[in-house]
Amino acid sequence: MISSSSSISYANQITLVALLLACSVIIASGTNFYSDFNITWGNGRAQIINNGKMLTLSLDKYSGSGFESKNQFLFGQIDMQLKLVPGNSAGTVTSYYLSSKGKTWDEIDFEFLGNLSGSPYTIHTNVFAQGKGNREQQFHLWFDPTTAFHTYSILWNPHNIVFSVDSIPIRVFNNAMNKGVEFPTKQPMRIYSSLWNADDWATQGGRVKTDWTKAPFHAVYRGFRSRACIWSGGASSAKVWMDDRLDAAGYRKLRWVQNKYMIYNYCTDSSRVKQGLPLECEVP
Ligand SMILES: *[C@@H]1O[C@H](CO)[C@@H](O)[C@H](O)[C@H]1NC(C)=O
Ligand SMILES: *[C@@H]1O[C@H](CO)[C@@H](O)[C@H](O)[C@H]1NC(C)=O
Repeated sequence: MISSSSSISYANQITLVALLLACSVIIASGTNFYSDFNITWGNGRAQIINNGKMLTLSLDKYSGSGFESKNQFLFGQIDMQLKLVPGNSAGTVTSYYLSSKGKTWDEIDFEFLGNLSGSPYTIHTNVFAQGKGNREQQFHLWFDPTTAFHTYSILWNPHNIVFSVDSIPIRVFNNAMNKGVEFPTKQPMRIYSSLWNADDWATQGGRVKTDWTKAPFHAVYRGFRSRACIWSGGASSAKVWMDDRLDAAGYRKLRWVQNKYMIYNYCTDSSRVKQGLPLECEVP
């Protein structure tokens, strides 16, 4: 579905080579949570189990929990399988994202907003470049994300950022630097994830609160897989995913998701259109 293309310009190739000299590409799969991630908060509420093959986050009235990757990445294809908080998950938010540090940080976000039993989760996505975000798109899903594991992927390369669910693209953010739109190209990012309470805004605009009698809430992770440029020094050569873009079949799937499941798009938000559409939203 994602195809390689050779139309990359000569100038881009030069930049790519320069970037790649500073990092080494490592393809890792069947990875171990002990070797790839650090638990960063939650005082025992986050746990690595099954000999490192799974990780669970939990949230109760007192605290949530979270983890981050040991490595930093500069471009890559990163997959994680998640099983989200089941039942009444209203008010809970599971965040899963890539982010760099500093005031002009870059960030690529998935956020899963819980809901009442039987009401759909919302997947919230955003892209920050140089500290500027406000690029939200939200979706419902075509399955229940709490009964089985599903794969959530971020492809990030100099051409585009593709968010996918079970290999179905749900969002593409193209590099529009030629129009003056910032795009993450220089700052290495870590993977972060956390489960926390946000019942002041998360579910149905904050109207539905967390039911603490159902706590603790759990989200489960497994199947982390990265084909990514790991920031460490050392040389490497360009890899296929550096050039990956959607092909026609990928765009057909993307349109299917966007027609049937997209519930918010900053590009068509009429309250924002008054200030002028963001440049990257204009149809080419
Ligand atoms: C992860 O934990 C190890 C051991 O405590 C520490 O040495 C390392 O710096 C941590 N990595 C990050 C990215 O915080
Ligand atoms: C929760 O369910 C309602 C419909 O019952 C839906 O409008 C909303 O998008 C869902 N998600 C959140 C996070 O509120």
